[in-house]
Amino acid sequence: DKGNYRHFMLKEIYEQPTVVGQTIATMVDPLHGTTTLPEFPFDLAAIERVTIIACGTSFYAGMVAKYWLEQMARINVEVDIASEFRYREAVMPPGGLAIFISQSGETADTLAALRYAKSQGQHILTIVNVPQSSMERESDIVLQTHAGPEVGVASTKAFTCQLSVLACLSIAVAKARGKIDHAEEERLVNALTEVPARMAEVLNHDEAIEALADDMSKARDVIYLGRGPEYPIAMEGALKLKEISYIHAEGYAAGEMKHGPIALIDELVPIIVIAPTGRLFEKTVSNMQEVIARKGRVIFITDEEGSQANGHDAEATIALPMLDEFVTPLLYAIPVQLLSYHVAVAKGTDVDQPRNLAKSVTVE
Ligand code: F6R
Repeated sequence: DKGNYRHFMLKEIYEQPTVVGQTIATMVDPLHGTTTLPEFPFDLAAIERVTIIACGTSFYAGMVAKYWLEQMARINVEVDIASEFRYREAVMPPGGLAIFISQSGETADTLAALRYAKSQGQHILTIVNVPQSSMERESDIVLQTHAGPEVGVASTKAFTCQLSVLACLSIAVAKARGKIDHAEEERLVNALTEVPARMAEVLNHDEAIEALADDMSKARDVIYLGRGPEYPIAMEGALKLKEISYIHAEGYAAGEMKHGPIALIDELVPIIVIAPTGRLFEKTVSNMQEVIARKGRVIFITDEEGSQANGHDAEATIALPMLDEFVTPLLYAIPVQLLSYHVAVAKGTDVDQPRNLAKSVTVE
């Protein structure tokens, strides 16, 4: 049931404050500022190496987790797409942790990759949304996302719920490895528990985002730029746009622009720059300025401070609420979802059932 929403996708975007809140609530104790993951059937502290495998949007959640795990838990993390991983005969020293991320729990390539990792003596952890899936049955431990049924083919709420689980897991791994003390754990948990309320505020920007859609729907190509954990969000934004609006889009690491893609920039190409304030802000802003100097038309997605500092540089600026840098990917996922949604509506495509796509890809 779509309720009062025009499409399932929009309804599912709007459900995010609730379902992300539910997912986080299963894994943190906000009162004591601790994570409360289920007991692991292996010693988390003894893990030396993490491999994360998934497809599509779930893969981008895995890419974000690489930044988190490396930075907070100081552990070696590899991320790959399942269709490549399953055939490349990866070297996996026994005793590593292999994490599989899937909304459906049925994606053929991800399941095959899981079986390979198992054959290589890895501990298998899956993050799935649909209960009782094939992947769940073959795992050592399952962390469930509580997104509820996702009907729209384009994944939205499942993605931010995956990020929520991965954020909790990253804190837990960091703690198990003795890389963070209790004060730091508490700070991270607090940042995470603040997310649902901030997400609700982000949804208040819906009209401002919708106002950009008509113009963008005429574009032939769109480029999304981000750095650090916002780089996968740029890729996810581009994927969402491709899937439902059929506009060619690419997500790029902002710093990689000058190595080729900047040649694409002219006044016909909208550039979405995703840059919360923090460690990488100035770097991304300087990439934005390079794009503007080449007549690129920039939509700048930042926070209130970022908007005050550089909002005037861009053609349009969306200023999100301030939030701890750690959890920004959860928040910045929403404006790119909304943007692709409204562009698709402006183009008149079938938003919930885009051409050539299926919700669950059970063939390779
Ligand atoms: C994107 C999308 C797909 C899926 C991918 C993996 O909006 O829906 O890219 O993310 O097919 O599916 P799951 O997560 O079910 O393994």
